[in-house]
Amino acid sequence: MRCRAWLWLKVGFAVVLLLAAVLAQAGDSRVPLPEVARARAGTQCIADPPTMRREHPSMLKHQRDETVHQGIRGAKASLKGCVVCHASAATGSVAAAAGDFCVSCHSYAAVKIDCFECHSAKPRAKVAQLR
Ligand code: HEC
Ligand code: HEC
Ligand code: HEC
Repeated sequence: MRCRAWLWLKVGFAVVLLLAAVLAQAGDSRVPLPEVARARAGTQCIADPPTMRREHPSMLKHQRDETVHQGIRGAKASLKGCVVCHASAATGSVAAAAGDFCVSCHSYAAVKIDCFECHSAKPRAKVAQLR
C-alpha cells in the first residue's frame, strides 16, 4: 500500500514538472515569430542571413535612388536576384500571398513597400521592363 502511494506521489510530481516546463515555453513564445519562407534550395544569399535581415533595406534602397535618379545599373544587390531565389514554390512570387517571402516578414513588421508596383514579384516575368 505504501509503495503505491509513493508511486502516485512521484507520478504527480513528474506531471507538475512537465506542466511547468510547458508553461515556461509558452511564456517564451508569447510573441509569435513570422514564418519566413525558405529560399530556393541549393543557393546562397548575397550575404549571410543575419546581415540580410539587417541590411537589405539599405542595400536595395540606396540602389533604387542610384538607379532611378542617376541611371546606374548592374550593381550588386539586384531585386530581380532576390525574386529568382526567394519566389515561393506555391505562388511563384515573393509577394502574392501572405506566406510569400517578402510579405511574410513585412506584414509581421508592419512594413509596406511599393516596389512591386513597378518590379515583378515573379521570376522571368516581363512586367518590370519599363523602358
Ligand atoms: C515607379 C516605378 C518603380 C518603383 C515603385 C520602384 N522601382 Fe526600382 N526600378 C525602376 C526602374 C525603371 C528601374 C530600372 C530598370 C532597369 O534597370 O532595368 C529600377 C531598378 C531597380 C534596381 C536595379 C535593377 C534590379 O533589377 O535590381 C533595384 C535594386 C530596384 N529598382 C529596387 C527597387 C526597390 C527596392 C523598390 C521599392 C522600395 C523599387 N525599386 C521601386 C522603377 C521602380
Ligand atoms: C542566389 C540565391 C539568393 C539570392 C540572389 C538572394 N537570396 Fe536571400 N537567401 C538565400 C538563401 C539560400 C538564404 C538562407 C535562408 C533560406 O534558405 O531560406 C537567404 C536568406 C535571406 C534572408 C534571411 C531570411 C531569414 O530566414 O531570416 C533575407 C532577409 C534575404 N535572404 C533577403 C534577400 C534579398 C532582399 C535579396 C535581394 C537583394 C536576396 N535575399 C537575394 C538565397 C538568395
Ligand atoms: C526576415 C524578415 C524580412 C524579409 C524576409 C524581408 N524583409 Fe524587407 N524589411 C524587413 C524589416 C524588419 C524592414 C524594416 C526595417 C527598418 O525599418 O529598419 C524591412 C524593410 C524593407 C525595405 C525598406 C522599406 C522602407 O520603406 O523603408 C525594403 C525596400 C525591403 N524591406 C525589401 C524587401 C524585399 C524586396 C524582400 C523580399 C525579397 C524583403 N524585404 C524581405 C524584414 C524583412
